[in-house]
Amino acid sequence: MDNIAKTLTKYQMFIGGEWTDSESGTHFESDNPYTGKPWALIPRGNAADVERAVAAAHQAFTSGEWPKLNATKRGALLRRLGDLISEKSKALAEIEVRDNGKLYAEMSAQTAYMAQWYYYYGGLADKIEGHVIPSDKPDTFNYTRYEPLGVVAAIIPWNSPLLLLAWKLAPALAAGNTMVIKPSEYTSASALEFMKLIEQAGFPPGVVNVVTGFGTEVGTPLVEHPRVAKVAFTGSDATGQKIYQAAARSLKRVSMELGGKSPNIVFDDAHIDNAVKGVISGIFAATGQTCIAGSRLLVQDSIHDAFVEKLVAFARTAKMGDPMSLDTQVGPVTNRPQFEKILKYIDIAKSEGAKPALGGTQATRPECGDGWFVEPTIFTGVHNAMRIAQEEVFGPVLSVIPFRDEEEAIAIGNDVVFGLAAGVWTQNMRRAFMMSERLQAGTVWVNTYRAVSYLSPFGGYKRSGIGRESGQEMIKEYLQTKSVWISTASEVPNPFVMR
Ligand code: NAI
Ligand code: MG
Repeated sequence: MDNIAKTLTKYQMFIGGEWTDSESGTHFESDNPYTGKPWALIPRGNAADVERAVAAAHQAFTSGEWPKLNATKRGALLRRLGDLISEKSKALAEIEVRDNGKLYAEMSAQTAYMAQWYYYYGGLADKIEGHVIPSDKPDTFNYTRYEPLGVVAAIIPWNSPLLLLAWKLAPALAAGNTMVIKPSEYTSASALEFMKLIEQAGFPPGVVNVVTGFGTEVGTPLVEHPRVAKVAFTGSDATGQKIYQAAARSLKRVSMELGGKSPNIVFDDAHIDNAVKGVISGIFAATGQTCIAGSRLLVQDSIHDAFVEKLVAFARTAKMGDPMSLDTQVGPVTNRPQFEKILKYIDIAKSEGAKPALGGTQATRPECGDGWFVEPTIFTGVHNAMRIAQEEVFGPVLSVIPFRDEEEAIAIGNDVVFGLAAGVWTQNMRRAFMMSERLQAGTVWVNTYRAVSYLSPFGGYKRSGIGRESGQEMIKEYLQTKSVWISTASEVPNPFVMR
């Protein structure tokens, strides 16, 4: 044990501009999903560390340099951070891959692209304009200001840690807030490495803080802390509900993105080879561990058998193995509990009567070593009422459900509690527009899948979430509106009647 501990990379938390151990002085291990073995020691924070971090963030919000910086200067800091991310994107991607097992091919592109959120919101920082209200009262001048909220808590999951942090941190800082970040206990290293860039960019101490640890030990006290003004969360439906309830007790604002069970709908008039690729990208890219996974394939019954045959033939060739190799297509699952959850859902699907047309087991290929790998799995014979069609698996498991016509595709597509995304594959323009209108989802892709941008609002209908991320409008989720009234009258009128 001592020998292992010596070879592990030991991290510290980042609070008030200082690198620090947790108050308890203890650590927990973070695993590399490809080897199935620990590689890092992460400080195990608790309520005392949350207290320190929120105090630092509150102090940075109310005094010192940060509140005095004008919006243009805040924007310049964000753009400098964007430049540093661009320079260090490969190193950040390597940390992400080591800790969460996603493909380097995808993560290196993602960490480079992530800089755009900091550039975009850096540019937006000084373009948030209040209004002069055409007052109906005599001798008054009324205008609005958009002001920051205060300390924002960001609670981050393990699937795309730095990107999902960027979606929250960039607009929150552009708006003038300060932040306490709680990364996932499975993937805390990248947020800590990222704090080196925050330091280098020159953000004043306390503006951005990271407390590492577990959901109940760090997440709960953070959400309950009276000085936290807003909680921005991405993660599971169950945890989202707990956070919403806890936040309600102190009337905190929340924004949440809680995953989905998105339909990827293929009509018989689709360009079939493109649709096959689109379905693959929706469920096997990132090993299916994405909130937007197209985990239900709805395929028109006239092409069902031929389409499934092509899909299975394509998926069968997917190369598994080391996520750092550029030719690997399906990597490991990020953590052991998730690996076990996926295998449990595969068993549930089988017991419900679904038939595996591909996979349906743990992957024991030699190139998978001791890592947590699951074979790309395609179930046919699925009915939309089955649990495998209703519940988020968050793994490489696709359910194929046939449909007859447009009406049935819409009915099945919308018949889940979630509404994050949907895909439609058709060459008919009327059908494309009509489906985009009638699918209850925050994002609809037609003849493409898994496209996201800093320019475009992203979020969920129904139980997939509250609020939006990215795009111009959403910066308002990190601002509050103040209405200012100034009298130009020389005398105060009758004080006993409302003005
Ligand atoms: P989770 O939702 O429990 O964890 C997300 C974050 O919330 C982590 O930082 C965690 O420490 C924190 N957290 C947990 N309990 C908390 C509490 N009571 N108060 C405050 N913070 C708390 O997700 P988990 O357990 O890692 O994954 C479980 C499932 O969640 C997956 O199987 C998948 O279905 C879903 N998921 C969805 C994601 C999405 O992008 N929407 C991302 C990751 C997981
Ligand atoms: Mg890990």
